[in-house]
Amino acid sequence: MSSEQNPLIKVENLRKYFPVKGTNPLQKKKYVQAVESVSFNIYRGETLGIVGESGCGKTTLGRTILRLYEPTSGKIIYDGAPIYDSEKKIAVKMLPYRRKMQIIFQDPSASLDPRMTVGEIVGEALDIHKLYSSKKERSERINELLDKVGLNTEHANRFPPEFSGGQQQRVGIARALAVDPEFIVCDEPISALDVSIQSQVVNMLEDLQAENHLTYLFIAHDISVVRHISNRIGVMYLGQMVELADSYELCSKPVHPYTRTLLSAVPLPDPIKSRSRQRILLEGEIPSPLNPPSGCRFHTRCPYATDRCREECPELREQSPGHFVACHL
Ligand SMILES: Nc1ncnc2c1ncn2[C@@H]1O[C@H](COP(=O)(O)OP(=O)(O)O)[C@@H](O)[C@H]1O
Ligand SMILES: [Mg+2]
Repeated sequence: MSSEQNPLIKVENLRKYFPVKGTNPLQKKKYVQAVESVSFNIYRGETLGIVGESGCGKTTLGRTILRLYEPTSGKIIYDGAPIYDSEKKIAVKMLPYRRKMQIIFQDPSASLDPRMTVGEIVGEALDIHKLYSSKKERSERINELLDKVGLNTEHANRFPPEFSGGQQQRVGIARALAVDPEFIVCDEPISALDVSIQSQVVNMLEDLQAENHLTYLFIAHDISVVRHISNRIGVMYLGQMVELADSYELCSKPVHPYTRTLLSAVPLPDPIKSRSRQRILLEGEIPSPLNPPSGCRFHTRCPYATDRCREECPELREQSPGHFVACHL
């Protein structure tokens, strides 16, 4: 993915804060800083993996890019056109973009309405965007989509609770594909599934990407899930992007101390190498995004932190071509 190519999506200084309820009204309002000034590009046809511990803001980032959550500030540009820009006060109507940008949710059982049949769930997307000219065409399209994700046409009249987790996620994928999108946020699409079927679903997503020229933002909490399917990987810590590089480069030459920690926890296929390698353990708990540390957010757990790290937040800078790191060291 060369950086000379125009990005499909450009995210600049994106922030998403959630107000915290229930605090004393006389006190200053508090916010969860779930995504704090994140900037990166997503190139057409690539899979950009996003990894980081639970609670670091991955889901919020994915949903804010789609404006399922309204951003707090920053800029989102889709294929050259701003869909959100807090400085220029641009916030376009998203309906036309819902055909281009879709999401596959982490927990299929929670994201499918149990009272709607599978056919209704998939058909709803076709209805919203009026993607058929006759009833016959609509049902043909639903059958085609079910077939695409490995379900059969008889499944259309059944309800989500009748299905296994893997089948439910296939319904979620069919729903996302119904509008023939260009870009899909895959938010930990396999983490709620049985281990035995995880790779089937990942393989299917890869095949669908190739057939339909899709661009993925693929979120995972475990780097081993995304390292093989991502062209590039971004690492998040406490709402910020700390490193972003080509997958192979990131896994073989990680620069940020946090990325090194994540990688040291991944089991190696070679048991001898695996035993001789030091697993880096971080001290302390992940701090709260309600009250993040000053300076570099990682400094409270970083073995190399200096005074500068405690005071000044490092920017994400291109260290070598295509390899971005936010670290003073
Ligand atoms: N709708 C919400 N309202 C308030 N806080 C939220 C909401 N969604 C997420 N958060 C908070 O934002 C932070 C990031 O959460 P999330 O994006 O779900 O992280 P991840 O997907 O990496 O586990 C967490 O502290 C979480 O509690
Ligand atoms: Mg999440």
